[in-house]
Amino acid sequence: MSVPEALAFDMYGTLVDPIRIWKQLERYVPDEDALRVAEVWRQKQLELTFRLTAMERYEDFEWITRKTLDYALAAAGQELEADQKDVLIAQYNNLERFDDVDSGLKRLKEAGHEMVVFSNGTPAMLQATINQEGLHQYFQGFVSVDEVKVYKPSPKVYRHVADRLGRPIGEVRLISSNPFDDVGAEAAGMRAAWVDRSGGLFDPLGSPPEMVVETLTELADALEARRR
Ligand code: LAC
Repeated sequence: MSVPEALAFDMYGTLVDPIRIWKQLERYVPDEDALRVAEVWRQKQLELTFRLTAMERYEDFEWITRKTLDYALAAAGQELEADQKDVLIAQYNNLERFDDVDSGLKRLKEAGHEMVVFSNGTPAMLQATINQEGLHQYFQGFVSVDEVKVYKPSPKVYRHVADRLGRPIGEVRLISSNPFDDVGAEAAGMRAAWVDRSGGLFDPLGSPPEMVVETLTELADALEARRR
């Protein structure tokens, strides 16, 4: 039996669902706009992380999240009061977990893997999410890209998480539903597992990693099979 692995879990889209915030958006914008605002918000949020990285400029993920909420609302012709936006930003630290997260993480922890959250989120956002979601029981801690002030998929962030875990980069596996994250991690020399929450649509810049699963319980199965 081989030794347990070091697993670095992406947060948004992998453990918690940033799109489901449309349910909260329904309180403030017409029902038919809520899902679209949530989708544009997320898309623009990622776009800004990529662009800031290309520009060698850094603004933290909370700043980006606020700016892109304004953008997504404006794109839908909506405007909210400052306190309503504060509610939504606070809700961002309490996003719904995917259904398989608890059962999957429990099994992975029992199997002895070393597990951390590894995300673009600020330390404050990650700490709040981990606390509110009861995720701390599964993780040794979290690594925020804020520690190196550059976003995924810069190779710097993948090297950083490996450094923080005190392991060679090839001994750390990224667990992410975001194809750009998996492609970036593998390009930097990390292993990856794609949690396919999108029905099979990967990224044109690369091919899916050797490990593809649909849920974290499937991930536990896949890693267990590998250890036999
Ligand atoms: C994260 C983004 C990529 O959690 O979802 O890092």
